[in-house]
Amino acid sequence: MRKVKKRKMNYHKTLKLIIPLIFIITIFLFRKPIITFYQSKVTGYPMDTIEVFNELNIYKDIKQYPYSDTLNYIVKTEYYNPKYLNDYLSIDYQTKENYFPEINQLLTLGYSANEINAIYTSLNDQSITLLTTSDYLKDIYTILNLSYFHEENLERYLKYNQGKELNYEDLITYVNAQLDYKYYTNVINVENPKDITVLVNKYHKLSSSYIPEDLETISTKYNKGYNNKLRHVAKVAFESMCEAALKDNIKIYSGSAYRSYNYQQDLYNRYVATNGFNEAETFSARAGYSEHQTGLATDIMNAKVDYISKSDKEYTWLINNSYKYGFILRYPEGKENITGYMFEEWHFRYVGIDIATNLFKLGLTYDEYVARNC
Ligand code: DAL
Ligand code: ZN
Repeated sequence: MRKVKKRKMNYHKTLKLIIPLIFIITIFLFRKPIITFYQSKVTGYPMDTIEVFNELNIYKDIKQYPYSDTLNYIVKTEYYNPKYLNDYLSIDYQTKENYFPEINQLLTLGYSANEINAIYTSLNDQSITLLTTSDYLKDIYTILNLSYFHEENLERYLKYNQGKELNYEDLITYVNAQLDYKYYTNVINVENPKDITVLVNKYHKLSSSYIPEDLETISTKYNKGYNNKLRHVAKVAFESMCEAALKDNIKIYSGSAYRSYNYQQDLYNRYVATNGFNEAETFSARAGYSEHQTGLATDIMNAKVDYISKSDKEYTWLINNSYKYGFILRYPEGKENITGYMFEEWHFRYVGIDIATNLFKLGLTYDEYVARNC
């Protein structure tokens, strides 16, 4: 009887030892999948990804970051580049063909994860491919958010950017203004010649048959040309401006205002004959390309009945006051490469008070203004 009891006790003892041993052995044998399972639960990555993380010895690097689809998928492909681990963590995943080689290319070019996210949110496939095969475009994040960024111009922005130190606003503005094209090429026929805001320059041409319907002769009091005319609204504004100037003891006159297509043609030809083609191009518009044909521009004369120059008090008065009447100095100094013309101290254009005031504040030419508001 005692013998049986003793055997039973030994049996229990052995069992007490064996069970934990079996447990320990099991844990030991299955430690890897158990750890992987635990790591998967902690980070949200599937177990096969965790296995790759552990093979690459990067689990410790990623575990403190939130789950990333991009990392989850790319790490299991040939495109995974350890150099970009932190970027993959922040790049939003896209189900898109060639996504991984593309993001690697963009990262290699120097784009940040945030910039890449903005690129994929804002641009179509064709544009993204363009970016991957071009130089890094500085400030792309801000560029994409510019109201006057036009995706259809992207290839031109990238090309125009090469070898230039332009800030992003100028880059986009200049290309929108067509300055990446030679003057008088890629010409657009003006469709809104009657609009007060019409843009006429070396890329925007008026029809040879366009004649404004509401031309009116400027009062003889402010008119030193031959029957100088402006469109009604510009004529009224011009006379008000002359009156206001007079109150400040400043005498200004219109020396030349509306010019027909044919008149401009003769004028331009005469300048070419007298000054030579290259020089004439800097101060005379070819027929169809002159603001004078709009009936909204006038060349202004001083008290001596000479065309205004920079040192004249009339010039200073006009610079400080013309915007209040809706006029702008159309071809300012230092902007010759934008307007396509030399500094013309005398050529003023009516655009309306709001735009003129804006331009005065911003220090922009009308060409730039339109390029930022198209
Ligand atoms: N002088 C200006 C540019 C014109 O000919 O219209
Ligand atoms: Zn002029």
